[in-house]
Amino acid sequence: MKLASSLNRLGTETAFEVLAKAKKLEAQGKKIIHLEIGEPDFETPDHIKEAAKKALDDNFTHYVPSPGLMDVREVIAEHQSNVHGKDISPENVVFTPGAKPIMFFSIMALIEPGDEVIYPNPGFPIYESMIRYVGGNPIPMELKEEKGFNADVDLIEKSITDKTKLIIINSPNNPCGSVMDSEDIKRVADLAYKNNIVILTDEVYKDLYFEGSHYSVYDFDDMEKQTIILDGFSKSYAMTGWRLGYGIFPDELVEPISRLVTNSVSCTSAFSQKAAVAAIQGPQDSVKMMLEEFKARSKIVVDGFNDIKGVSCIKPKGAFYAFPNIKETGFTSQQLSDALLNEGVAVLPGTSFGKFGEGYLRISFANSRENLKEALSIIKNFLD
Ligand SMILES: Cc1ncc(COP(=O)(O)O)c(C=O)c1O
Repeated sequence: MKLASSLNRLGTETAFEVLAKAKKLEAQGKKIIHLEIGEPDFETPDHIKEAAKKALDDNFTHYVPSPGLMDVREVIAEHQSNVHGKDISPENVVFTPGAKPIMFFSIMALIEPGDEVIYPNPGFPIYESMIRYVGGNPIPMELKEEKGFNADVDLIEKSITDKTKLIIINSPNNPCGSVMDSEDIKRVADLAYKNNIVILTDEVYKDLYFEGSHYSVYDFDDMEKQTIILDGFSKSYAMTGWRLGYGIFPDELVEPISRLVTNSVSCTSAFSQKAAVAAIQGPQDSVKMMLEEFKARSKIVVDGFNDIKGVSCIKPKGAFYAFPNIKETGFTSQQLSDALLNEGVAVLPGTSFGKFGEGYLRISFANSRENLKEALSIIKNFLD
């Protein structure tokens, strides 16, 4: 079979591959501590599950309009209006199965061969994968450890050319746990505005700040006309398997994105959308509990790595990831993550998030404190 050559440009998300390898080892009887996959180790809160069960009983089991159920889009619009201090119309909300398709569809809708897209590296791997897939030119914005893995706005400014169509930012960031401060956010918004560049702001971790609070390029005057907000339920409400996400789009993108939804998945599951209402309007204590737990675990992880010879780890400020520097160990990221999997700890090489991830590991602390401590002791023993 001759496959389309475009597939050679399509990357992947290594977390799923490492998870599969780890599961295989587990099937052979090996104990593995999972620090590779980016999903909360908590259950979806009961009131959200109850809302989905009721929606099933009420027969929300059919196709719905591609951008989503209007009453649910209204709830999202109200929620996002509160987050951003702007009046967002439900017409600008488009639901997708998970937040990931927002990247896929936005990049497909905007990027032509040769167009340049500035994106964070290390960063969520699907950005680069999709830019390449559509024939765009990915321009990495290196997140440097000495800058706290924050976007270097001077670098963004230097990278802008007349071919730049899109800038992608992600705060709090996967894989580094860094967050952009208000000053940097404003500078990026100004640059995009001045140069008429669209911004895709990935805010899927917006409820998970250990310090500081959420700022968005969307909040600045007129930026709603050239900003796409990516958000969803996977991380804040432990709903990764529900496949429930959405975008807030500028007016002229709503119809094309909805058409992409029609062409690909038709619509997002109706009973999942109904559950979204319970997530947004119901009690938020589970989000707070999860955040406090991640914060406590981040300290265990950072202290643990800083206690290992050849390893150093800066404090994440959000999400649930740490990105320890392993350059002094003499291993490449891939070598060390392979070796640790053999020792019974699944982690991701920093290079899963782009070339600037070399010399780092990505640790998801979506695992119990006991397991994190055990994993750290295995890593310490191995490296010592
Ligand atoms: C930065 C970032 N954006 C988006 C997503 C996609 O989330 P979802 O599971 O809702 O598709 C993830 C998931 O890991 C992520 O880390």
